This record gives sequence, structure tokens and C-alpha cells, in this order.
Amino acid sequence: MSSIQRGFARLGFQKNIDRLLEEAHSKAGLAKTLAAKDLIVLGVAGIIGAGIFVLIGQGIAKAGVGVIPAFVVAAAICAVAGFAYAELAAAIPASGSAYAYIYTAMGELPGWMVAWALILEYAVGAIAVAIGWRNNLLALINQFKDSDPTTDLFSNPDKPWLYWFTHSPLESVTTASGTVLHGILNVPSILIVLFCTLLLIRGTKESAKFTFVLVIIKVAILILAIIGGFLAFNASNFSDPLPHYAKPDGSQYDATGFFGAVQAVFAAAAIMFFAYIGFDSVSTTAEETREPKKDLPRGILGSLAITTILYVLAAFALSSAAHWTTFVGDSVAATNARGEPFGYVFEQNGFLQFNGFGFGALLVRIGALIGTTSVLLVLILGGVRVFFNMSRDGLLPGWMSTVSSRGSPAKTTLLYGGFTMAFAGLLTLGAAVDLVNIGTLFAFFMVILAVWIFRVRRPDIERPFTMALWAIKGRDGRPLVPFLSILGMLGVVALVFSLDKFTLLASVTWAGLGLLVYAFYGVRNSKEAHHRHVAASEEEADPFTNGRPAGTTRDE
Ligand code: ALA
Repeated sequence: MSSIQRGFARLGFQKNIDRLLEEAHSKAGLAKTLAAKDLIVLGVAGIIGAGIFVLIGQGIAKAGVGVIPAFVVAAAICAVAGFAYAELAAAIPASGSAYAYIYTAMGELPGWMVAWALILEYAVGAIAVAIGWRNNLLALINQFKDSDPTTDLFSNPDKPWLYWFTHSPLESVTTASGTVLHGILNVPSILIVLFCTLLLIRGTKESAKFTFVLVIIKVAILILAIIGGFLAFNASNFSDPLPHYAKPDGSQYDATGFFGAVQAVFAAAAIMFFAYIGFDSVSTTAEETREPKKDLPRGILGSLAITTILYVLAAFALSSAAHWTTFVGDSVAATNARGEPFGYVFEQNGFLQFNGFGFGALLVRIGALIGTTSVLLVLILGGVRVFFNMSRDGLLPGWMSTVSSRGSPAKTTLLYGGFTMAFAGLLTLGAAVDLVNIGTLFAFFMVILAVWIFRVRRPDIERPFTMALWAIKGRDGRPLVPFLSILGMLGVVALVFSLDKFTLLASVTWAGLGLLVYAFYGVRNSKEAHHRHVAASEEEADPFTNGRPAGTTRDE
């Protein structure tokens, strides 16, 4: 059989759930140190970051006050995915996130494709967050210059190198004198990814403590940002609330009218969806969780609920403090406003200003820096976990699942961090976010689908947490038409189609690359295939493979 034929044969070839449990308890597994509250902290650590502190500026530029319903639309879709994650995470307590669930519920190839998408999600997510971190760092440094929004230390035509080495080659800005500056390499983003990678290599335990402190600080600062936004409330910001303007190419952007508004809300939701990414990373830690069946659903749904409330309040506060026109255009002021909206708006409104210095803006900027750092840690950790589990299943080389003496997968972390660093200096926030979102939406679609398929295929499995499916059931109780799953999947598809063509093309390319790696490595080395062949050979000796799958090169 060729590799491709073997791949197709494995479309419905599922991971053995008993062995999954066994592996989770094996000695080579990771230390079991996490409880429900740690998971909520981890969830919030992975969720609140560049999305709310940075990206919301782009959301308002797209939909104006429509960013508020956009957060609700994105949260609704995440909630369906969150329930699905919680059900699968509780029933299949092994780390690996959606990858392990899809592998178990649907088969090896779908599992591989989801894992491949997740690797991109976490890595490009980390890149997007690192770019957001840079925005806040530059704004913080700028604040010590003065509060004039039209000038910027890093957008100075007399010192162009300051722009060159703090921005990617795809970024540009038009200065007050009309000069257009282009970036060369975003060095600050590279450095923050390097810092987080080194911290994770030191060990997960220390990083978890560090994460806890970061979470407390960033939630407090987000609450402060909400209060500041409400204090700057100006009813006139709700007049002419939906964006409409001429784009640089002369065409018109128009979010007014019923259809324009609905489209704009979905376009903003497709961006703001990013702000919720991270709750799924809770499920990647199942193996390190003391009581995964109880704690995982609490961790996933708890962190999602907390952040949804904070985000809707923050979106309302910011929309009431600044009109959408503040965030549109390529001038220094508009670029900075979009780049870190809360700090910008607070500085211009004099929130907590003493002796001419905006302490409110400073605090929010520091909070955003801290918030984005904790998200970076979780995203890199999540990506490494996916690699770790794929390697343990034989789908990637074995050295990727070795654990250092400090208990962390150091080699994989270094590889993953290096990959992330290389691109952190080159991409724009918009491109990175779109790519992350499409990868995540694919994973969400598959997870929602997997709940349905797994209930039909294995109704016998113990499910400590079950999501409501609103299903029409067959005579044997299996869900034939689960309306909530179908609604969730349609929501995901609607968001995917709100993204642009470049994103679709890039993600198809990434998927193609994944299929090649699977065909040339995964198919030959899969341990599940090995187990199946061994099991088969015990009943009937296989004269060609001698109980091992053809091409298997190593023992367990
Ligand atoms: N949800 C994460 C953030 O907003 C990825 O930074």
C-alpha cells in the first residue's frame, strides 16, 4: 500500500481510548500538579491579551459600535466550541487538545489535520500577541516624550532606523510631513518571544506561578480600563455609529444600512474571535490535571464566561469613550490609536492625569504588556504540547516528546519558540490574526463535529460532562440531528467566509504541507498502526511485516 493509500485507510482509524488513558498514567507522562482554579487561571492567562488590549482598535475600525455585538457573536460561537471541548476533554482525559479528541473520535488523518492547524494557531497566535506587545511597549516609551498624538519617537523621518527596526517589512506609516516610513524587522517582538521561550524551558511549574501573578495584574488593569472608558463616556460617540469612509484605493468602505452593519459585525467578530482564543489551551493540560473529568469543564467554561463579561463591558466602554473615526486612517495618530486603543484614548482624555502625565494610560499600557506576556507563555506552551503528543503517538520524531531534567519538553520548546521568533519580526498584526483565526475555526468546527460523531459511535463511553445538543434522537438515543452542533458549525463557517482570500490561500498551503509531512512520516511511524498490527499478528502472524507496520523504524 502506498503512503497515500495508507493515509486514506486511516480516515476512520481511531485512537484506542483505553491506551490513551494508560499513556496518561504512564511514568513518562508529565507531573500532575493542576487543579480547577489553576485551569481557570491558565484559561484567563491564555485568553485576555492582545485581543482586548490591542486588536479591539481594528474591530472598531471595521464595525464602530458594532464591535459590541461582534464580541457577543464571537463568544456565542466560542461557547458552543467550549462546551464541545469540555465534553471531549472530560471523556478523553489525555493532553493534546483537539488533536487527541479528533484522533479518538474521528480518526488519525482528521486528528493530524487538526493538530497541524493547531500548531499554526498557537505559533501565529504567539506572533500576533508579540506584535501587540510591541505596540504597547512603543506607546509606553512614547508617553515619556509628550502626549501629542501626531508625533511619535518611532515614526520620525529624521531617525528612520527607529521605525525600521521596530516594525516588520509589511508595516508602514505616513508621518506629519508626508514621508512614508517602511519597517525592516520587528526586533521587540522577537525579543519577547525569546524571553518567553527561555522561561518555559526553565520548567512549567515556575512558569505557572509566574502566570498566576500576571493574570491577577492584567484582570485588575482591564477592570481599570473599563472604568476609565465609562468615565470618558460621551454620548456623541454613539451618533453616526457605523464606519463609512473612502479607502486609500478610492473605493468606499460602508458599514451602514442593515446589510452593511450585519456584514461589518461579522467581519469584526471574525477578528475579535481572536480575543477568546486560548480557552482551548486548558484542555491541552489534561494530563497534568489532578481530576480532569471535573476540573477541565470548569476550567474551560469558567474562563470563557469571565472573559466574555469583561470583553463586552470593555467594548462598550471604549466605544463610548472614542468615536470610530479615531481609529481609521494611516496617519501616525490613527495608527497609534488602533495599535493600543485604551492607552491612546486615556492619554488623550487625561484619565488619572497628574502634573500633565497620564498615569491612567501608563497603567493600562503596563497592564497590556503584562497581559500579552502571559498569553504568549500559554500559546507557546499549548503549541509545544501538541508537538509533544503527536511525537508520542509516533506521528512526529521521538525526540520531540523527551522531557528535560526540569520536567519540561525543552527541545521542542526551543524549536517551537525559534520558529515563532523567526516570523514574529516579519508579519503584521492583521495578517497574523487572520491566519490564527482560520486555523482555530477549523479546529472548533472539527471539535463540535467530533462530539456528535463520538456520541453516535461510542454512546457507551462515560461522559462526566455532556453538552446540550438540542438533538432529534434516534430510537436508540443517539443524536441524529443535533441543532446546536449544526448552528455552531454554521457560525464557524460564517466567520471563515468573513476572512480574506490571502488567509484562505495561506491556510490551504499550510494544510497541504501538513498532508505531505503526514504522508512521508506520520503514516509510516504511527504507534496506533503499530499497536493494531501487533494485535492483529497475535491472532494471525503477518508474514510480511512480522507484527509491525511496514516502515516502522523504532520501538516504543
Ligand atoms: N486571546 C488571546 C489574546 O487576545 C490570544 O491575546
